[in-house]
Amino acid sequence: MGIQMTKKQIVVIAAIGLALAAFNGTGCYYDSKEELGLLQVCDTAAVSFSLQIQPILAAECDVCHSTDAADLVGGGNNLDGYDNTWNFTEPGDAANSLFYQSVAWIPGSTFMPKSGSQLSACELALIRNWINQGALNN
Ligand code: HEC
Repeated sequence: MGIQMTKKQIVVIAAIGLALAAFNGTGCYYDSKEELGLLQVCDTAAVSFSLQIQPILAAECDVCHSTDAADLVGGGNNLDGYDNTWNFTEPGDAANSLFYQSVAWIPGSTFMPKSGSQLSACELALIRNWINQGALNN
């Protein structure tokens, strides 16, 4: 019969099934990390302002929001360094922080970066968790 599988075919299919099951079974899940893609792990456990937040500001925001930006083109809003950025955060409450609202594109907020594409899911998670962890100068 044409539709019957040979023993060899059955063995091959079983081997593939076992390999897939083993592959899925080896993945550990860490509560402290947010898995945002197949291979990408975003470590938001203890977010550091200087190591994780300041680089985002430097790359995405400071062209308009730093003290050096010509006439502070970002509506006069200075996001240069910890002290200035802190003015746009409610420590422990990302949802009510202009810094988070603007990058998360919360309806009703001013979407940032202005006329740019939205930050990555990992960058948003870092900013959210940094604020919710108390917006520390760490
Ligand atoms: C191309 C310039 C530009 C870039 C880049 C930019 N902004 Fe802005 N931003 C502005 C301008 C201009 C305003 C003033 C509001 C307006 O005109 O829309 C503003 C306002 C803001 C405000 C105040 C919003 C309010 O409701 O008062 C925050 C917070 C802010 N930006 C955060 C950011 C963050 C965080 C980034 C980087 C992820 C960023 N911006 C990138 C131009 C920029």
